[in-house]
Amino acid sequence: MIHILGNQDSLLNQYIAEVRDVEIQKDSMRFRRNMERLGGIFAYEISKYLPWEQKEVITPLGDSQCRVLKTQPVIATILRAGLPMHYGMLNFFDQAENAFISAYRKPHKNGSFTIQIEYASCPDLEDKILLLSDPMLATGSSMVLTYKELLQKGKPRHTHIVAVLASTEGVDYVKKHLPTGSFTLWLGAVDDELTAKAYIVPGLGDAGDLAFGDKL
Ligand code: URA
Repeated sequence: MIHILGNQDSLLNQYIAEVRDVEIQKDSMRFRRNMERLGGIFAYEISKYLPWEQKEVITPLGDSQCRVLKTQPVIATILRAGLPMHYGMLNFFDQAENAFISAYRKPHKNGSFTIQIEYASCPDLEDKILLLSDPMLATGSSMVLTYKELLQKGKPRHTHIVAVLASTEGVDYVKKHLPTGSFTLWLGAVDDELTAKAYIVPGLGDAGDLAFGDKL
């Protein structure tokens, strides 16, 4: 199942336009804040698909039958670009457990790269609902490797994979390499092209650099 939230106009499209805009994105505080807001919107939309239950709540004037989340999800992100979105999700799922994983592109002399996973901090995932976010789903290989690495911490009941921008190739790769029915994709928009260095076109550039500055 794939949800492309940008297909319906909402504030999400406003924030996506701002993170893409070559002038507006120069303000890194605003870039991070927009990513955080997008994380919040995804969290809110995904919450409609999580398990809910009835709870009696005592108000100053009586009892109210309220609906509350049955379980909090585990929210996971890929370092470092995913941090602002992660924080936006945590603002909504404020009791969620958290997982962080580092995946970086190790370059080779011929211009290609392989994804290296080096750090993972993760709670038990057995039978939990996992929200795994990365702002950019480019080739899809970081997402698939990260998911497989996280499986060592237990098999989630279901995984919601979230990306602000995806490439068509990245979406196809994830669909091909992850078990059907085990995940739902939540995307802001899907772009058609990837550069030779696997950047999404038109995309937005390097999400990690825009949020946190250039790296060596
Ligand atoms: N990571 C980014 O930050 N941007 C892309 O376009 C692809 C991967």
